[in-house]
This record gives sequence, structure tokens and C-alpha cells, in this order.
Amino acid sequence: MGVTGGIAAYKAAALLRLLQKVGANVRVILTEGAEAFISPLTFEALSQEKVFTQADFLKPQGGFIPHTELARFAEAVVVAPATASFLASLTSGDAQSILVATIMATKAPVLLCPAMNVNMWEHPAVKENIAKLRSWSYEVLAPCGGELACGDVGPGRLPEPELIADFLARLLAPADYQGKKVLITAGPTREPIDAVRFISNRSSGKMGLALAKAFWLRGAEVMLVHGPLSVKIPSYLSQRPVETAQEMYQVVNELFPGVDILVMAAAVADYTPVKTFSGKLKKKEKELVFTLKKTPDILAEVSAKKRPGQVVVGFAAEEGEKLPEEARRKLKAKHLDLIVANDITRCETGFETETNEVFLFFANGKELKLPLAPKEKIAWQILDALKEQLGEILSAKA
Ligand code: C5P
Repeated sequence: MGVTGGIAAYKAAALLRLLQKVGANVRVILTEGAEAFISPLTFEALSQEKVFTQADFLKPQGGFIPHTELARFAEAVVVAPATASFLASLTSGDAQSILVATIMATKAPVLLCPAMNVNMWEHPAVKENIAKLRSWSYEVLAPCGGELACGDVGPGRLPEPELIADFLARLLAPADYQGKKVLITAGPTREPIDAVRFISNRSSGKMGLALAKAFWLRGAEVMLVHGPLSVKIPSYLSQRPVETAQEMYQVVNELFPGVDILVMAAAVADYTPVKTFSGKLKKKEKELVFTLKKTPDILAEVSAKKRPGQVVVGFAAEEGEKLPEEARRKLKAKHLDLIVANDITRCETGFETETNEVFLFFANGKELKLPLAPKEKIAWQILDALKEQLGEILSAKA
């Protein structure tokens, strides 16, 4: 991890913590500019490792040549924040600083996270450098918009550590879904009763979101169609928020022809009120009766229109012993390539949980159990299985 001399240098400490939390072994390089903002001791204390500075570059100790040793050590490099002058030195191949020299000496993928004043970011010199660096396969995560430390407003802020960590993870992940377009639905739908009330369910959207993230990490282009979610959606996922089953039906129908894979992880309401009352329904009668009508079965309808090369995945929330039978029935009835079933009678799986245990039923007859694990891991394993069982369909040209 390289830190250069911008005000966002303090955020690099939080990034280091996060990378360590997910199991990374991090070595830090501070440029001279960074040292003016934050002390090497901060990073040394957090990483429990020696932090390398310009002094180590100029006077290597004990035969350890920092830029070549660190270049060999790293499986990935992140520079956060990356200043305009650092980007200029890297673009011009000026290896006088320890960080530029290390990056020039490494074969590892490099993520650059520029942060600077908005006018600097929009300056043609920076723009040209960024374009050049991108053309050399450096990954550049553009700064976020908002209020800057200098008081100006616009793009220039260093993105949050979570976002940087996700981009870094993508550099390390297999790109086996590169070039694939994936449509994922997630979360509940809301069916309005009146202006303020609705029928919904306990879906959190976490499983759908974990799948969307896994596909993105593995190189796919992801579109997330989602009902109201309590979890934050990362900015790298394109999204279409919807409320009702009918709205989700329209959006999925519109987007389905253009995608390679559809994963319907949303808990779509099966019934919706026939009539939505205008305003707020008054409390009068002792009993109140609603008539509900069936919503369109989005999955069954789009799957019937599947063209060669398209893969459709459904989810099923089932209870106990009936799970396999019901899942196999739905797999057939809805013409799916895969159905992912989970048992909602268990408290650690299914709705509103962080973990899941699922059963995969493929159209080719293959059946698989993925034991209890965090939803992120389950998502990753679903992608592995999908590639293994349906790789042929996915690589076939439509
Ligand atoms: O038949 P059941 O509702 O159990 O099937 C669940 C699967 O069907 C899920 O993948 C869900 O997203 C999808 N579904 C749908 N439209 C509905 C109801 C469910 O696409 N109206």
C-alpha cells in the first residue's frame, strides 16, 4: 500500500485496518509528501511491520533493497491517496521516489486512487496522465464528488475504504465472468394497500447483493433490480430500484433480452391488493377484508422466452422435508437452469440472516449442498458451480 502526500492520507490508516481485517498481509510505503501529513509510526503500529520511506530507499539497510523486494512481495498494490504529482512521476517513469520505483519494478496489478482539489483533477495534465496510466493497464478508481477539504465542491475526495478494498479484491479475483452481462433481482417488493401501508416480506436483499458483488468481482457487468433494501448498494453496481412486483416485472422484461444470466433472488410478492385505497385508510369497521390477486410470475414468464446461450437462475424458500421435491418441481415448471433452495424453517438460513445454507438443483440433474457459510461465500460458491455445470451454455454464442 502506497500513501502519498494529500490531506486524505489519514484515511489510508482506515484502509490498512480494513485490509488487515479481511486477511491481507500489508506492507506500507510512505512518500516524503505523505510523511508531512501522517507519521510512519501510525502505520507501523497498525501493521506491526516496518514501514518504508524515502530514507530507506536512499540508504538501504542490511542488503534489503526496498523497491525490488517490495515489488516482488506484493500480489497487488494500492496507492491511496494518489496525488497529482505522484501520478505525473509515474506517468513519466521518474523513479526517484521509493513508491514510483516499487510500482515500476512490480508485476502485480496496481490500483491508483487519486484524491485532490477538483480543479486539479479536471486539469488537462492530470487527465492526460490518467488516460495514459489506464492505457498501461493501471486500474484507476476515480475520486468521489462532494465537499473537499479545501472548501471546493466536486470530484476529488478519496473513496471510502470499503470501496477501495472491493476494487482491490477485483484485481485479485478470477475474471471468469468477464464480458458477461448479469441481471440480478434482490430484496422484497412492496404492494400498496393505501397511501401509507403496504404488504411486504422479511427479505433483506443480502443474498442478491452478495451475488451481484461476486459477479462484479469476477469481471461481469451487473445490473441490480431491487425492491426497498436496508443495506447500502456499492456505487459500482448499476441499479434500478423498484417497489411493486408489477414494476419489477416491467424492468426485468425490458432488460432480460440484453443479458447472459438472470438471477431472480428477489422475494417477489405472490399477491397484491386488487385495489389500492387513496389516502390513508380510516379505522372504522371491526373487520376489514382485502381481496388480493396474483402477481405475474416474472421468472416463469421470462424463462419461457430464453434464447440459446442465456442462463436463468431462480431461488426458492422452502420448508423442511419438502425442499428437494418442491425445488425440483419449480426447476422444471419454470424452465430454469438452476434453482437455489434454502430452508426457511432454520434460523441461520434464509431471510434477514448473514449466513445461508443452500441446495443447488441443476437442470442437468446435478444436485449440490453448500453448507452453512456467510452469504458472500455462498454467492462465490454458486458462481463456481454455475461455471462448472453451465459453462458450456454460457460460452455458446447466441
Ligand atoms: O414459486 P416461488 O414464488 O416459490 O418461486 C420463487 C422464485 O420465483 C424466485 O426466484 C422469485 O424471485 C421468483 N418469483 C417471480 N415472480 C413472482 C414470484 C416469485 O419471479 N411473482
